[in-house]
Amino acid sequence: MKILGIETSCDETSAAVVDNRRGILSNVVISQIPLHRPYQGVVPELASRAHFKKIAPVVKEACLQAGIKKPDAVAFTQGPGLMGSLLVGRVAAETLGRIWNCPVVGVNHLEGHIFAAELEGKIRFPLLALIVSGGHTDLVLSFKPGKYRVLGRTRDDAAGECYDKAAKILGLGYPGGPIIDKLAKIGDKNSIIFPRPYLEGTLDFSFSGLKTSLLYHINKRLKRPMNTKIRTSDKPILNPEEISNLCASFQEAICDTLLQKTIFAAKKFGVRQIVVGGGVSANSRLREMFTSICAQEKIAVSLSSLRLCTDNGAMIAQLAIHKLASKIKKSPSKSDPALPFKNWA
Ligand code: KG4
Ligand code: ZN
Repeated sequence: MKILGIETSCDETSAAVVDNRRGILSNVVISQIPLHRPYQGVVPELASRAHFKKIAPVVKEACLQAGIKKPDAVAFTQGPGLMGSLLVGRVAAETLGRIWNCPVVGVNHLEGHIFAAELEGKIRFPLLALIVSGGHTDLVLSFKPGKYRVLGRTRDDAAGECYDKAAKILGLGYPGGPIIDKLAKIGDKNSIIFPRPYLEGTLDFSFSGLKTSLLYHINKRLKRPMNTKIRTSDKPILNPEEISNLCASFQEAICDTLLQKTIFAAKKFGVRQIVVGGGVSANSRLREMFTSICAQEKIAVSLSSLRLCTDNGAMIAQLAIHKLASKIKKSPSKSDPALPFKNWA
């Protein structure tokens, strides 16, 4: 069975073909980062227009690379995401489904990030998933595919958003995650001890205080009034050594918090498999920390290769393979349970 997966929930237009036996046959991703860079964030209206322009060539290229004329089914991201962007993917998928006369399946984007791990190896249930992206920071427990319990999530900024805002404060550019990751490698992570927002007694996260703490640090350092708000600067506001030390220390606080909470939850629920997914799972320090602590605790950890951490059509197609298989086994239903967990959006 060959599935075409379409992903347009945010700022990547992607289409991929996944074969249920042979894995990824193609995975075409067009990033809109250059388009949104001048605004230092995703502009929803620009995003949907760009998806509209690119969706047809991206699908065509994915089919061409996979060497197929038509797939056996089309899958698309149904949510969560930007409304206009999602709509472009949905309309494309439904149109193609009619033309090719094949099933069309809408799936959950966050569940897709979990199944990205399966494109490169087996994942065992029960599992604990940490989904960290520009819009989400969710800790999810699952005993079987399709059944999820959200144990905790961010109460304010998502981890990726925190990276992006920090880069804005420091005048480093957009998106902040990969830039801070790179600069942190040459910085001293112990030069400044930023607070770890643990929120005792809950598995929720909170990152907005950490961002404010960075802002106060900069205001103090530049002798600006403490209530000076984030200023957008297109060049670094401190010398390179200070910047890299700040990046390393700030990153350490984010990664430490994500790691501690996840390991605590894994022990609490007796889970031996962790999946880390979403754009922030591309972070080198986070990967290093998870790899080392999970080896120590004898917990299996799945960290996808970098191209599968950020949004892509392959993860959507892979998830759809499960949805289609369980639909074939169970009685077919008209309403697609695309959002598997009511509060998970
Ligand atoms: O999953 P994703 O591609 O899109 C959303 O669904 O949001 O994640 C994008 C986020 C951005 O906030 C970006 O800064 C962050 O992932 N990101 C990273 C890294 N690469 C991307 N954050 C930290 N380190 C990275 N290497
Ligand atoms: Zn995502």
